[in-house]
Amino acid sequence: MLIKIAKPSALRESDVTPESAYLSRRRFMVGMAGLGAGLALSGSLKASADYSDVPAGDAPPWLQEKISASHRRAVVPHDPEKDRIAPFGDASGYNNFYEFGTGKSAPARRAGSLDTEPWSLVVDGEVNKGGRIALEDLVSPSRFEERIYRLRCVEAWSMVIPWLGIPLAEVIKRAEPTSKARYVRFETLVDPEQMPGQRSAFSLIPWPYVEGLRLDEAMHPLTILALGMYGRELPNQNGAPLRLVVPWKYGFKSIKSIVRISLVEQQPVNSWQRIAPDEYGFYANVNPQVDHPRWSQATERRLPNSLFRPNTIDTLMFNGYADEVAELYAGMDLRKHY
Ligand code: MTE
Repeated sequence: MLIKIAKPSALRESDVTPESAYLSRRRFMVGMAGLGAGLALSGSLKASADYSDVPAGDAPPWLQEKISASHRRAVVPHDPEKDRIAPFGDASGYNNFYEFGTGKSAPARRAGSLDTEPWSLVVDGEVNKGGRIALEDLVSPSRFEERIYRLRCVEAWSMVIPWLGIPLAEVIKRAEPTSKARYVRFETLVDPEQMPGQRSAFSLIPWPYVEGLRLDEAMHPLTILALGMYGRELPNQNGAPLRLVVPWKYGFKSIKSIVRISLVEQQPVNSWQRIAPDEYGFYANVNPQVDHPRWSQATERRLPNSLFRPNTIDTLMFNGYADEVAELYAGMDLRKHY
């Protein structure tokens, strides 16, 4: 099956990224076949990407090497007018990361001191090859890919972000799930000393922040583990050193600073579902027809915007990735499974 970008004929390179020509039309598709040998995408990210306005990061050498050798394999947003890549300053300055506070600017102000090197994760549960593994070793067999995705927050704002990462499916396959594995559960770091939001008496979230996916969602080629964005490593406020990105789901599924990936039999209860089950579900697929109980999900504010240029656009089913993912939910009542 090919994962095809909707209406590729309507796209021009300049529509997708104003500042560079790092995408070409033949890279407008990413496919399951393409994740193997089928789709030849030439060149490394370094060779053509222009992120000259993006502040240099401070990635350890192993990560820098992986980033430099990235494939440019983009999933390109569908609407040439509206799907412009957000400036780096917006993507790294307007965040949700409750471990560092609830305000949108708090993560950028407070997450800088999070120590992400070295970092290790536990892969466990229904797997034959589990255990603690250094991040470097977890990702070393995979080549990084650049994926340009829309990120649609349940709060009705969105941005287009160029991520760098690896398909989650590759990590799961290497862990060798047993026949009992039906879901994947993720946990964020708990470290109140480094994460002031976890020290707050007003915090709503029972730490750790938890998320989950059905196994077929986790294995879908659009689902990635990101270690970078805009041609560099992730800033801490965006979930360094490793976060999930599931572009057809509301942003809260994209859990940050992951320390545990568990293959499990039972559907996990995610953090927002635990706090407000009437408002946030397990699936959290972007769906303009199912409103949040307190606001409409029919439209979104595409950032950056301003008072004079609200930049309100229609929200698309599955965030515009319906051709790729709708079949995962065939026969399901998406009002019930919100
Ligand atoms: N992961 C953790 N651990 N803690 C959080 O508070 N917020 C989520 C998600 N991942 C969150 C998290 C929400 S609500 C959104 S919209 C996205 O991160 C925001 O990602 P961004 O800040 O990179 O745009």
